[in-house]
Amino acid sequence: MSPLSTSHSQSDSEKENDDDMIARTETSSSNDSPTEASFQTDSCRSSVLDYHDHTNLDENDIRVLQASSPEIGDPFADVRDRMEALSHSSRMYHAYHTTDQDKSIYSDSSTSNGLDTQYTPTTFTVPTIPFFAAYTTYLGYAVLIAVGHVRDMFARLFRRGRYVAQARRNTYPSDDLKSYAPLLKSFENFYTKRLYHRIQDCFNRPVASSPGANIQMLERVSKDGNKTLTVLGSLENLSAEDAEVYRMGKHLSCMKDGRVTRKCLNLGSYNYLGFADDWEVTCKEGVLKSMVDLPVSMGCSRMEGGTSKLHYEVERVVAEFLGKETAMVLSMGFNTNATVIPALMGRGDLIVSDELNHTSIINGARTSGAAIRCFGHNDSENLEEILKEAIVLGQPRTRRPWRKIMVILEGIYSMEGEYCDLRSLVKVCKKYGAYVYLDEAHSVGAMGSTGRGCCEYTGVDPSDIDILMGTFTKSFAGMGGYIASSKTVVAMLREKCAASAYHNALSPVVCQQIISSFKVIMGLDGTNIGKQKIAALRDNSNYFRMRLIDMDLHVMGHYDSPIMPVMLYNPTKIAAFSRECLKRGLAVVVVGFPAVPILMSRARFCISAGHTREDLDRALDEIDEIADILKLRYARSSFG
Ligand SMILES: Cc1ncc(COP(=O)(O)O)c(C=O)c1O
Repeated sequence: MSPLSTSHSQSDSEKENDDDMIARTETSSSNDSPTEASFQTDSCRSSVLDYHDHTNLDENDIRVLQASSPEIGDPFADVRDRMEALSHSSRMYHAYHTTDQDKSIYSDSSTSNGLDTQYTPTTFTVPTIPFFAAYTTYLGYAVLIAVGHVRDMFARLFRRGRYVAQARRNTYPSDDLKSYAPLLKSFENFYTKRLYHRIQDCFNRPVASSPGANIQMLERVSKDGNKTLTVLGSLENLSAEDAEVYRMGKHLSCMKDGRVTRKCLNLGSYNYLGFADDWEVTCKEGVLKSMVDLPVSMGCSRMEGGTSKLHYEVERVVAEFLGKETAMVLSMGFNTNATVIPALMGRGDLIVSDELNHTSIINGARTSGAAIRCFGHNDSENLEEILKEAIVLGQPRTRRPWRKIMVILEGIYSMEGEYCDLRSLVKVCKKYGAYVYLDEAHSVGAMGSTGRGCCEYTGVDPSDIDILMGTFTKSFAGMGGYIASSKTVVAMLREKCAASAYHNALSPVVCQQIISSFKVIMGLDGTNIGKQKIAALRDNSNYFRMRLIDMDLHVMGHYDSPIMPVMLYNPTKIAAFSRECLKRGLAVVVVGFPAVPILMSRARFCISAGHTREDLDRALDEIDEIADILKLRYARSSFG
């Protein structure tokens, strides 16, 4: 029986679970404001306040917290007050939220450090696409699609063309289209052929360095109008004239083996805490040592003996860091969601998922066989409506109560750069006895005064989150995923979750990388590098966001979030933005359909603690020029 179950359960065999939930419901009903009772522990509350109150830090602390060397002082001194004021209202919004009742929790001046007086509830508006941009975006896609179909039609008619020619070569029996229905025939396939291939040079660029603040991109060329791309290689492969162009080119250089690269400022990696930049100093020693007495691969799953002492150590550190009873680590973040959700949920259960949840969550939810309902992104009122309706109506047809309900959320939404409105969503979940599953892939390490994630940032007690999930691929420069929860839940998952039972265990080398990075973040390495990284990430992110907004760009997300999508809307601007940036030595990620809705193409910046103020200023100056060329100032004018 699953250790997770809700009060909607009726069967005898699940009575134990019912009791668990009844206890929850009783806590709720014995209190006028049901969710307030266990919502804020003192330690949790004071950490939120510490974070919000920059005045807690003495001058020396502030200096230490900067990414630059102490002699230089605060690199953001000239804009510090403005940055703090802007980010303060974002923090207040997430920690206090909007109701007066919430606000009163902090009105005690002995604990609030006077912050209450500064509190002004802010509502965050998401930029909406101007009519002109929507119209031209649709028009742009319509033209591209029409031209694509005409080309497909002529290719079929004359049996000539890139894709038809392949089929006629008859390499495989399935190339005989008379006997087989086309394996790939969908809008996505058409989109790839006729739209994506036109701009494919903007994606999957080969990188020849670690994903630090500065990277080396291998130069690619296309000899057939972007149909295929090849790595340029060494200049010796070129004519003297062509080679000269590359020799003169700004930002270009050659690697030791002669391959031509472009030196770029990296604005696209999830290297939030900058471990890719200072790995040699922070983690290398421990990681190399771990290879002396442990294998690189365990060669079997966790359940079949693939557990080393380092696996236990990572699990202990994760549980301690997050304030949960225990934790389990798995070899991949994606598979953590894709296999843990089906282990927890099944037929007769209901998953209520934020509409913008990551594809790994969608995969896990669909595989589970549970019924799925989506609620509007971060919309606690919509969540409440759905939960209320689910409890009143029960399962479709039979009307039997749902066996259990689980609400799945993310800490930071990676395509929007928005924080989860955890406080109000958890409040609704507790009111209706629904379990909470929080994916902290992007928020753990990057969010909160000590990097403990969304709970710390919003002041929600971790015990109010039933399942904390996260990955080590972002802030920790490692790989793998974790689940932190109660002992009962984790014990069940160890046996029932496919990633624990059947996947190869996480490599001990990676375990050591995770342990080393945790030590730095927690200050257990005896330095303040971790503290400095967290503060540098926050400052860099807030500065970059503030300047982008000053440029009148449509910027999504919240202050303190290291992810900053800037809206491009028009399909032509996706490629133009990416190419302009590359030309100017900026590596950026651009995102279009199907990763985001067709109208909502964007460039997505990911800021790191490894960036310096100089890096950011250079990038911002270039982006400012590009914004003029491409007409991106949608906050100033509907025409950009
Ligand atoms: C919210 C979320 N969950 C899970 C994952 C999967 O993590 P990983 O890349 O570590 O497998 C990602 C990846 O970016 C993510 O954004």
